[in-house]
Amino acid sequence: MGLDFSVEQTPHPTSPERLAEILAVPGFGKHFTDHMVTVEWTPDSGWHNARVRPYGPLTLDPASHVFHYGQAIFEGFKAYRQPDGGIATFRPAFNGERFNRSAHRLALPELAVDDFVAASDRLVSQDAAWVPDSDDASLYLRPFMMATEVGLGVKPSGHVTFLVIASPAGPYFASGAKQVTIWLSEDYTRAAPGGTGAAKCGGNYAASLLAQQEGIANGCEQVLFLDAVERRWVEELGGMNLWFVQDDGTLVTPELTGTILEGGTRDALKTLAAELGHEVEERRVDIDEWRKGVDTGQITEVFACGTAAVIVPIGTLKWHGGEVSSPAETPVATKLRSALIDLQYGRTPDNHGWMHRVVEPGSGL
Ligand code: COI
Repeated sequence: MGLDFSVEQTPHPTSPERLAEILAVPGFGKHFTDHMVTVEWTPDSGWHNARVRPYGPLTLDPASHVFHYGQAIFEGFKAYRQPDGGIATFRPAFNGERFNRSAHRLALPELAVDDFVAASDRLVSQDAAWVPDSDDASLYLRPFMMATEVGLGVKPSGHVTFLVIASPAGPYFASGAKQVTIWLSEDYTRAAPGGTGAAKCGGNYAASLLAQQEGIANGCEQVLFLDAVERRWVEELGGMNLWFVQDDGTLVTPELTGTILEGGTRDALKTLAAELGHEVEERRVDIDEWRKGVDTGQITEVFACGTAAVIVPIGTLKWHGGEVSSPAETPVATKLRSALIDLQYGRTPDNHGWMHRVVEPGSGL
């Protein structure tokens, strides 16, 4: 049986005027909807106390495990306003399944995918007015789970809290979908074999920040990580997967080695690219293949993808003492981006069963 949610409405809903202001320029991760979902877990009771409640600060004991040992995971997917006025999310079950793989790696309890999807659906329905009605904005859903047992013993937590919060989202990068510049991290790695690279846990992102700071200091928006063993194979950016377009039209993305996060956008693009007539290869990519390929013209485009960023072309790759730039024209990235967002915003038919309808048109929400 699924979770049974209680609902407590906020006594202070955002005014329609303020909401319109926020939705006009949402930014990314800056504003949060009026409600959130919380669910608790203990070994004896399993998942219980599922609540839709007013968005607000949590009261947590300072000795909660999560503050000390970082036992926490998260997800990200989006809800899109459809042409008929209804709302649909994109492949929430993909994220629910990945969430469980992350939970397993972090010794957290699994949550039934149906409950994961139902929790997000409840929040989207509750705060439906927060789903933007514009071409390049959506509602970003951030489910997360953390260890809330109190104590300093290092062990899997005997009390866990799952939450979903939501935030209207425009473009992730301030530059919109223009080409971004990437810093190659030569001193730091993100994930090692046997580690947590394939899990979506906060620690991976914390570990990327120093390199990210170095990138920003060198005029770059994102940082590129290589594998931790040979320091040679292209893995991923701080929070996005990578794609290369070859001069023969083949699309190449680094294969999943256990140290790379399996992105939902990456996965969808494999299908969409093939449908648009491209060969798709998942294989290891040497950093020198990128550097030389861009120089010789064998690589015609490089782009990053992720839920938050969608598809963003990469212009320049920089490192200590050098850089290479890809052509300014990015027809393949542009074509794939259109194919993906047209599907997500319901402008083209959903032939893959990827869209999950949450709110029907005319439901008053
Ligand atoms: C996403 O694309 O959803 C991510 O998780 C990347 C970043 C915002 C952490």
